[in-house]
Amino acid sequence: MARILTGIQASGKPHLGNILGAILPAVKLSQDPKNESFLFIADLHSMTSVKDPDVLKENTKAVAAAWLACGFDTDKNYFYRQSKLASYHTELMWYLNCLTPFPMLANAHSFKDKSDKLSDVNAGLFTYPVLQAADILLYQANFVPVGKDQKQHLEMSKDIAAVFNRTYKEVFVLPESRIDESVMTIPGTDGQKMSKSYNNYIDIFEPEKALYKSIKRIVTDTTPLEEPKNPDHCNVFALYSLLASNEEVDQMRLNYEGGNYGYGHAKKALLDLILARFWKEREVFNYYMENEEALETKLAEGEKKAEVIAKSTMSAVRKALGFD
Ligand code: ADP
Ligand code: TRP
Repeated sequence: MARILTGIQASGKPHLGNILGAILPAVKLSQDPKNESFLFIADLHSMTSVKDPDVLKENTKAVAAAWLACGFDTDKNYFYRQSKLASYHTELMWYLNCLTPFPMLANAHSFKDKSDKLSDVNAGLFTYPVLQAADILLYQANFVPVGKDQKQHLEMSKDIAAVFNRTYKEVFVLPESRIDESVMTIPGTDGQKMSKSYNNYIDIFEPEKALYKSIKRIVTDTTPLEEPKNPDHCNVFALYSLLASNEEVDQMRLNYEGGNYGYGHAKKALLDLILARFWKEREVFNYYMENEEALETKLAEGEKKAEVIAKSTMSAVRKALGFD
């Protein structure tokens, strides 16, 4: 049985890029009977940037609802908020802090990037990778699926685990990152990478009218309706192709190349496709957003299960440190 673990920041409602690039591949991995998956909302990490408790709570809810909507099976797996197990995560983080060389953190790309760009450069931002190492080591994860930007953080987690094992005793599994190079970057409405930070995202959970509005924002050229169009230079076509069957893609290509088919038609077809492809996900998402208790129950169950593992690891850690 391999343990797969990943954390998701509570930085907003997941968009189509997050869903196709991260959530659906992770759900697929979690369905393999040989794996057990630990999926948690990294709300302690989000504190480095989000300072409004209501916003953090609402984002946490939306992220959790999105994972449930996309089919994450919480009975088979582990689903929890990091903040509800904060005593374990932060205690381990302290121990790991004392084994982490200062220059390792000072030279981290992500810290250097953020400290150049942000006005709020807090110590949490600096020790962020150590909390991440604690998140992973606490549950003895074998594999950590992440995006390319997290590669260095994962190397640090492995290094820190090795230092602990060498300095005290072999307590931790050495985690390996799983970076899927084949996952493509989903384009946003302006053609750049879809991202919350660029405000170019499509939120598939929005009510139909608002969803249509964001699809209408997709930038296209000015080729008149009656003229043939090049599907390979069109962002509407690119997004449509990511969701449609081969036959539907072939038909759409013919529509573009045949003329008398406008970008407005293609956008309406994209809306219909999203509604058809994600109707169930939209329903489940709304259910959990409106029934906070049901969401809370799911998370509380997951937190109870996760705590058993966290407790057992911490007991071994304290023994190794000579505290018990
Ligand atoms: P954002 O850029 O919107 O802030 P995050 O950095 O929070 O998104 O990303 C969360 C997860 O979603 C990561 O695993 C990331 O690799 C994936 N992801 C984000 N945007 C895209 C995209 N446009 N295409 C593919 N995957 C994406
Ligand atoms: N730093 C990760 C991100 O921004 C989120 C995260 C926190 C994480 N703890 C983790 C990812 C542990 C994998 C494992 O995407």
